[in-house]
Formats: sequence, C-alpha cells, structure tokens
Amino acid sequence: MKIAFFDAKDYDIPSFTRCGKEAGIEFKFYETKLDEDTVKLSKGFDGVCVFVNDTVNAAVVDKLYDYGVRVIALRCAGYNNVDLKRCFGKIHVVHVPAYSPYAVAEHTMAMLLTSVRRIHKAYDRTRDFNFSLSGLMGFDLHGKTVGVVGTGKIGHIFIDICKGFGMRVVAYDKYPSGEGEIEYVSLDRLFETSDIISLHCPLTEETHHLIGKEALGKMKKGVIILNTSRGALIDAEALIDAIKQRIVGAACLDVYEEESDIFFRDFSGHIVEDDVLARLISMPNVIVTSHQAFLTEEALTNIAETTVKNLITFRDGEVPENELCYNCGRVEDCRKQRRGKCF
Ligand code: NAI
Repeated sequence: MKIAFFDAKDYDIPSFTRCGKEAGIEFKFYETKLDEDTVKLSKGFDGVCVFVNDTVNAAVVDKLYDYGVRVIALRCAGYNNVDLKRCFGKIHVVHVPAYSPYAVAEHTMAMLLTSVRRIHKAYDRTRDFNFSLSGLMGFDLHGKTVGVVGTGKIGHIFIDICKGFGMRVVAYDKYPSGEGEIEYVSLDRLFETSDIISLHCPLTEETHHLIGKEALGKMKKGVIILNTSRGALIDAEALIDAIKQRIVGAACLDVYEEESDIFFRDFSGHIVEDDVLARLISMPNVIVTSHQAFLTEEALTNIAETTVKNLITFRDGEVPENELCYNCGRVEDCRKQRRGKCF
C-alpha cells in the first residue's frame, strides 16, 4: 500500500516510517500541503495522509478519486477541513479520534498558568538578569470559575485538572454527558459567570465564531479566553476589540482562524502579512502557540500507530473503527450504523 503523506514535518517521519514498515505500508513524505495545486502529487497512490491544514475540499476530493485514491487518512481528530459529503460513495475517510487528550488539556492549563502568573515575562526578565517583580502580579486560580465549552475527551480532562486546582467548573455542551459530576449551564450563563473560558468543542457551522462581538459583550470584565480547539471558533478581530476595551483580560491561543499558511513554519526574519495575528502577538496579555497542544511523544506514537491501523483495516477490506461518514453522529439514519460501512 502506497500513501502520499502531505504537510510532513521532521517529527512525523520517524514514527510513521517505523510503523509503516512493520505493516508493509510505504509512505512518501511531501513537505507541501495538500490543496488543488498539489493534489496531482497523489497520482499513483492508494491513499493520502493529511493533517489539520491540508485542504480536502470538493475539487480536491474529485481529483483524488480520479487519480484512484480510495482512502484519506487524517492523522488528527478534527475533520473540518475535509468535505465528507463529497467523499461519500467515493473515498473512505479515517481519522485518529484520540491520540492524547491529556496532551491538549495539559497544554491548555500550561497556557493558563503562564498567562496568569506571567511566566513568559519572568523568563525573559531573569535571562536578562532583571529580577524586578514589577508588573508580574497574578491571581490565584483556586476559587475562580472556569467555563468549559465542549465536554468531550479533552474537555473532561481539562475539567479534572481545573478541579484539582480548586476551581469551580461550569460547562456547556450541545450533547451533555457526565451530568452529576459536571454542572451544565446555558452558553449565555457560562459567558456571564466565568472568569476563564476554555473552548473544547469542534468547529462546525454552528460553532463558527462562537466567540464573537455578541458573546464577548456578555462576558465578565477581565475574562481569560483559552482556545486550543480550532481558530475559527473565535472572531479574532472582535477579540482584539474586546482586549482593547479591557473586557478580555488575557487570551491564550494555540489555534488561529487563518493559521494554515503560517503555523508550523519559521517566519523569523520575514514580515508576517497577517495584521490581525501580528496585532494579537503584539499584545502583552496574549499568548500564541502554533497548534502545539498535541505535540507530545505519547501523542505522536499514538497518531502513527492508529493511522497505520486504520490503513491496514481498510486495505484488508474491513470497516475501520475510525471511519468517518458525513452524517456521523446521527445514529438512526447513518448507513455505517445499519450496514457496517459508510457506503
Ligand atoms: P470530542 O469529540 O471528544 O469532544 C467534543 C465535544 O464537543 C463533544 O462533547 C460534543 O458533544 C461537543 N460539541 C459538539 N458540538 C457542540 C456545540 N455546538 N457546542 C458545544 N459543544 C459541542 O473531541 P475532543 O477530542 O475533546 O477534541 C475537541 C477539539 O479539540 C477537537 O474538535 C479539535 O478541534 C481540538 N483539538 C486540538 C488539538 C490541538 O493540537 N490544538 C489536538 C486535538 C484536538
């Protein structure tokens, strides 16, 4: 089985090469992302392996199908960049539903602590032998209210971490689970009462710009916003306005709506064209990491092992446990539920 691997990074190659070799799968690593211009590189391959910022829209799906590609293996959990409906009846899509929810939840808390205790500022200062504490005052997380949007795998773990810090947790989920142990409230109530808001829901049409001007207007003055989920959950320009108006006290962003041409690449020594991102980064109370929350040894091993397992299952004509279909989640009329296959 030959797989074209797009957007390959040096940290991907060892684990995928090792797992692929053991399973008889040959990966061809391309540094470039998959999009309408690069899709031709997948000619002659059985499948493609893609990540969060590859473009798998209708035009790309049609081309992949023409080239004989029959499986798209996402090496991530989110699949908002794939036109699943277009894939239906043509190409099977598999993903890695969980590789290390702990990695993302722990990174979220790391960003929160860094922000609240000004660790990033202190680190810079002491390296310059500046031991002044002026401007470094933080606050206790203990006793503060954190509002968690999305209580799936990552949200649940983040909630447990917050509870360990003695924080009060309120949550909103479209499909709540774990009632009894989690205090669910309406989204408006969450916005109004939380000192810290953390996003752990997927990006869908419904959640696009979930945090926009209206939502920001309902929030407590000084609220801290954490986003390690997907950039477009936040309207970044509205966020900048709210920071300037001192509504938002701090923002910690591991994702950004327009990240696809910027994140995972080295632009030091270049002029970054994106004024919104540049403005955010210029603010002392904004911390940006470049979609790094997943990046732990454990997660990379799990990603490679699960992706290879998905591909082997598909190659052997079985239904991969992690196959996606465009109507996933709607149990009654999902063909996968009835026939064991997406199509
Ligand atoms: P999950 O599927 O276990 O949980 C998502 C939760 O969001 C579910 O409980 C679901 O009911 C809820 N949800 C769905 N629609 C909603 C809505 N409209 N409003 C509120 N809640 C809604 O997913 P998991 O593994 O916890 O991942 C969460 C997100 O984290 C992913 O969608 C992905 O975008 C992001 N992620 C980011 C990574 C990073 O490196 N920064 C790595 C992995 C995931």
